[in-house]
Amino acid sequence: MFSEEILASRTRNMGASAIREILKVVSQPGMISLAGGMPAPEAFPADLIVDLVRTALDKHASKALQYGTTEGFMPLREELAKYLAGTGVVATPDEVNITSGSQGLLDSLGKILISPGDKVVVESPTYLGAIQAFAPYGPDYIELETDSQGAVPESLEKILTQQRVKFVYMIPTFHNPTGKTISTQRREKIAAIIRKHDTLLVEDDPYSALRYRGAALPPVHKFAPEHVLYTGTFSKTLAPGLRVGYCVGPEFIRNWLVLAKQGVDLHTSTFNQALASEYLAGGHMQAQLPKIVELYRPRLDAMLDAMEKYFPKVFNWTKPEGGMFIWVEGPPGMDLDPIYHQAVAEKVAFVPGKHFFAVAGKGKETMRLNYTVKDEKTIQGAIRILGGILDRALG
Ligand SMILES: Cc1ncc(COP(=O)(O)O)c(C=O)c1O
Repeated sequence: MFSEEILASRTRNMGASAIREILKVVSQPGMISLAGGMPAPEAFPADLIVDLVRTALDKHASKALQYGTTEGFMPLREELAKYLAGTGVVATPDEVNITSGSQGLLDSLGKILISPGDKVVVESPTYLGAIQAFAPYGPDYIELETDSQGAVPESLEKILTQQRVKFVYMIPTFHNPTGKTISTQRREKIAAIIRKHDTLLVEDDPYSALRYRGAALPPVHKFAPEHVLYTGTFSKTLAPGLRVGYCVGPEFIRNWLVLAKQGVDLHTSTFNQALASEYLAGGHMQAQLPKIVELYRPRLDAMLDAMEKYFPKVFNWTKPEGGMFIWVEGPPGMDLDPIYHQAVAEKVAFVPGKHFFAVAGKGKETMRLNYTVKDEKTIQGAIRILGGILDRALG
């Protein structure tokens, strides 16, 4: 009955996420999926959440069940200001805004900043959900060059010298999809470039709490608080189903984000914000994070060990210190799409890396592997099968 004529012009820019389509295929019974980007269900503190519900209702029932302000539930903003100070993001509670996941922030950001044809700088590759959030508003993407250590500051300098861009979007720590982390020195350089060109940088940081080894690094926000909109989330440190995220950054941008959010959902679930608030206030996050880290670290190590053993020597991959993903690069010219179909036929799934590029046509020889969802033994078995398929493909 209806046809595309009913759609707004921006709606035609929307596309189903290739990854969500892949996740549908690979959720068949018997499939070992290394494709998703989800926390392990064992990482959810279900019993604790029962206690948090009780405490949240005892302490905050009148507010937690009521409409709230778009900026967010004040006790959570207060707790976040304390927590974030420890990570290097300095903000007062008033300067912390709550969002419906980081994804909610990305959508509002597209809405308030991007007109068709505006230039947005992203890493190459980047988080597909950001591309999806920005797509309806019709940006032109400029890809930032990346090397083994992540985004290259000189490439950013060159882009910003040559063109006027709306904003730069980056995932500096345990990048999705590559797992790479930008060094402190590069963070300082990037912050200086952003300040020099008076440009907005969106620092998306869902993974920095999932650090399995090495020392924590300061956020880019620390070096350019007036130019960086920092966003984080409880999705990987508590539960993604709660849909609670947050942002800190320039007041001018945050005020417009609030207006955009008002039109979407008025505010993030006050009840879930109260749970997140009690999670922090009771010291539970501090207790839970080491458990999550201890669950994921052996899974990462199991995957890296198995790759060393079973993957062809012509393949290279990242060795992340945290996060959820390993990025694999095959020899130039190899196409991992047929390999994906073969792997699915043998009940192992990954995401072909080509889906993570803002400008299509790149990354045919790459793949993203997730190591957080399956146990060590299952991971090793899956990598053995995948290694065998890659060996056969290389002849
Ligand atoms: C880089 C990045 N940004 C944002 C998100 C969205 O997170 P949230 O669940 O907070 O919306 C994800 C989720 O995987 C992600 O990897």
